[in-house]
Amino acid sequence: MILAPSVLAADFGHLADQVAAAERGGGSVIHVDVMDGHFVPNLTLGPAIVKAIRRATKCPIDVHLMIEAADQYTDAFVDAGATWVSVHVEALVHLQRTVAHLKALDVRAGVAMNPATPLSCLDEILPEIDYVLLMTVNPGFGGQTFLPGSIDKVRRLRDIIERRGLSAQIEVDGGISHHNAAEVVAAGADILVAGSAVFGVGDAEAGARALIAAAQ
Ligand code: DX5
Ligand code: ZN
Repeated sequence: MILAPSVLAADFGHLADQVAAAERGGGSVIHVDVMDGHFVPNLTLGPAIVKAIRRATKCPIDVHLMIEAADQYTDAFVDAGATWVSVHVEALVHLQRTVAHLKALDVRAGVAMNPATPLSCLDEILPEIDYVLLMTVNPGFGGQTFLPGSIDKVRRLRDIIERRGLSAQIEVDGGISHHNAAEVVAAGADILVAGSAVFGVGDAEAGARALIAAAQ
């Protein structure tokens, strides 16, 4: 299991220290939530912040693009230091082209999906991607409550991946905490994204460590 602390819940005035603390606690991929105020009703971070995080850590940087015009920005995020990039299936008409472009940029390519989006949307693209990001809340904000129906969705996706002999990993994002970490891992999640549970508890190192312990 990989813990990907989401810096959305971090103290931006001390970003490098916060990332270092989450890493000491066992976080090994840094998750960055990019929102454009169109695809989701919130605005967050751009490539300049990714560049700052790149200087602060050697961990992979996982950029989650909750934006409509993802194709216009993928290169800028990769130039800034992103090593994993996920785009939303709901936002892109030519998803395969975007995924192929990400592969050509030599980054791990992910496809993200909202809670109400059916897994069947992945049928054609699944063999081409490195990971699926299953939203376990509606995207846009940190600190929301985990949607319980997500457990079954993780399980069904795990079954599909196994049955087809594919290698895509499953990343879950939203409301992940010590209450549900073990259950999502048992259902088949490989990567847990967590914002509030890591950075919202005052001590990111302890937060990350507690979440990893709960997941095992
Ligand atoms: C929500 C983001 C999440 C968010 C998770 O739209 O994609 O990555 O940071 O935050 P928590 O863990 O607080 O739900
Ligand atoms: Zn995210």
